[in-house]
Amino acid sequence: MSSGNAIGVFDSGLGGLSAVKEFLNLLPAEKIIYFGDTGRVPYGTRSRDTIRKYAFQDAQFLLSRNVKMIVAACGTVSSVAGAALEEKLPVPYTGVVNPTAYTAVRKTRNGKIGVIGTAATVGSHSYKLRLQKLNPEVQVFEQACPLFVSLVENGIIHRDDQITRLVVRRYMADLKDNGVDTVILGCTHFPLLRDAISDYMGEDVTLVDSGYETANYAAKVLKEQDLLNSDTSVKQPEFFVSDTPDGFESVAGLFLGRDMEHTVTQIDIEQF
Ligand code: DGL
Repeated sequence: MSSGNAIGVFDSGLGGLSAVKEFLNLLPAEKIIYFGDTGRVPYGTRSRDTIRKYAFQDAQFLLSRNVKMIVAACGTVSSVAGAALEEKLPVPYTGVVNPTAYTAVRKTRNGKIGVIGTAATVGSHSYKLRLQKLNPEVQVFEQACPLFVSLVENGIIHRDDQITRLVVRRYMADLKDNGVDTVILGCTHFPLLRDAISDYMGEDVTLVDSGYETANYAAKVLKEQDLLNSDTSVKQPEFFVSDTPDGFESVAGLFLGRDMEHTVTQIDIEQF
């Protein structure tokens, strides 16, 4: 079945919803088709080959829904498979690294930027390389935070939750000691922990949300390329996952502030 003129967004699970939230604000007349690979999350602990294979299957599923643009709302995919996707996809593509690095370089005042992401993202140094290309003077401090993904996928995200606070402190202490004034939330799952991270780092530290920045960048590209819908009626997003929708529906509903019960469809991603 074709969904027409939609924007396809994917992530390994719930994280890409940080981009969807912004798309729904910015472009209500655009149809968003979201795929969360909940059956195979996390990606960030896997090999490059596996991440690339998964990324192309995810993109293939979105193409089967006739999307006009693909957004990898996933730091891991953008870091490890971004160049290959950009080269091979038949529609415009964006990942999260470039738009997010660009904003961080503009926001920092002391030139010390922290980057948090999955092990694969941090291991690729994708953000660090991009940041230092944009401004060779900046100092970049990287920290892999793999447990953050599990916290988010399990809905343990409240700023007052003891477990959340402990894990945040464990991962963020070195960045705080190093005096960063800007932190890139380089995994799209992490904005769901934004309150807890901000409570620990303090309000003077700017948190740059990769999902938010990427949605804004994608909206700009669509506008520039004259690809926005001419029909201005509000469209409802469609959500697909590769495992049972139950957990996804409740956490996504909380995060997006809408009732998501019975609105998410399970698909078999191995067919793509
Ligand atoms: N949300 C993803 C990212 O931005 C992936 C988390 C994971 O699957 O490990 O990196």
